[in-house]
Amino acid sequence: MTAEIISGNEIAAQMREEMKKEVAELKEKGVTPGLAVVLVGEDPASQVYVKNKVKTCGELGITSFEYRKPMDWPEEELLKLIDELNKDPKVNGILVQLPLPKHINEEKVLYAIDAEKDVDGFHPVNVGRLMIGDAKYLPCTPHGCIEVLKRAGVETSGAEVVVVGRSNIVGKPVAMMLVQKAAGANATVTICHTRTKDMEFHTKRADILIAAVGVPEVIKGSMLKPGAVVLDVGVNRIPNPDPNAEKKTKLVGDVEFASAKEVASKITPVPGGLGPMTITMLMKNTITAAKVHAGIE
Ligand code: GUN
Repeated sequence: MTAEIISGNEIAAQMREEMKKEVAELKEKGVTPGLAVVLVGEDPASQVYVKNKVKTCGELGITSFEYRKPMDWPEEELLKLIDELNKDPKVNGILVQLPLPKHINEEKVLYAIDAEKDVDGFHPVNVGRLMIGDAKYLPCTPHGCIEVLKRAGVETSGAEVVVVGRSNIVGKPVAMMLVQKAAGANATVTICHTRTKDMEFHTKRADILIAAVGVPEVIKGSMLKPGAVVLDVGVNRIPNPDPNAEKKTKLVGDVEFASAKEVASKITPVPGGLGPMTITMLMKNTITAAKVHAGIE
């Protein structure tokens, strides 16, 4: 069996068309969604993410406010900027790109963002709301996973979902979303991590496997149940195995795609899978925030 490739690019493009119309309609009502994006330091991956976030805002008609600061920018300056953005009515969403430099306390920064403008869904109020099934802003990558499952026609109700990885950004929230008593959820969820005793025992019984570990190609086809749906959240840059290739590095996921696609029924590729979905869900949250702040929703 060769798996159907779920194109995150196609799903994201479709959603962005829908959102473009929504933003145009909001503008007619005098509401222009605005997103502030803050990057501290020069992490190359973060620079690419931030550039793409700002570019996508432009494509959709969302106003972006970009703040790029040096590696040694003091924490108190960042907290001051967040305070100003919290008060600025043109700013509906605030995103501080992670990871932050070591001298900045990430928790302090995430807590300082107004929960009503927390389009990343990382503020403890929003994390708590997700837990009790009353979410306002869902974290973007896990939300992208849910949307992909929905649009690819994957039944989650009663499904055995195995999440590999327990990060606050992906593993824990995606598990929490799928366990909810709600449409597009209702799954039986297992979370595996570095201390899991027998990883393969779990991955082999997954109807839906979500890989979010950050280790290149650790999940092999032989570890999957035949017919499983595989979502690969990993984004890992490795030396290009092809010595003749023009590019010296290659982007791979947490799943070994070549072997996994022979066992799975559906699989997301890297790149072109969950990556474009993450930004799309950020745009969705920003539009939601603009509507909430304007009293439309
Ligand atoms: N770094 C990696 N993923 C994310 C994300 O979803 N949001 C932010 N702010 N930083 C990240």
